[in-house]
Amino acid sequence: MTLMPWGAELELGIVEIDTQHRVLVDLANAMHDEIRDVGPRSPVIGQILESLVDYTHNHFIMEEVLFRKYAYSHEEAHEAEHGVFTGRIMDLLTRFEDGETVGQEALELLKDWLIHHICVVDRAYLPFMKAALEKEAEANLVPFPI
Ligand SMILES: [Fe+2]
Ligand SMILES: [Fe+2]
Repeated sequence: MTLMPWGAELELGIVEIDTQHRVLVDLANAMHDEIRDVGPRSPVIGQILESLVDYTHNHFIMEEVLFRKYAYSHEEAHEAEHGVFTGRIMDLLTRFEDGETVGQEALELLKDWLIHHICVVDRAYLPFMKAALEKEAEANLVPFPI
């Protein structure tokens, strides 16, 4: 069984953001399968944690750049959530590298945090972000005045 099957409830309707979220969900599912099939000390777990650190970093930066660009009013609280997750996933990676078995804790964090963050916290910026992106697309269609 998959840890987090990708489904409509995880889709926000902004292609670039959905694509990145899907990579995060795929990494969480890959970790789940690796623990199930190989075990919690498999070196692949370390590689997946590293990928999660890198990929979440890039994804969070992309969202935060958009928040600043369009002056999203909940930017600070949203960025704080990103910061908490980054700290926790980096802590898990460090502890894994120190020989601790962190697989189950990582899976719980991924399942709880990722689903809540995508479905609630990210979804909260959707009306604002869609309006800002549509407005910008319209502005780009206005012909240059001659
Ligand atoms: Fe996100
Ligand atoms: Fe986010």
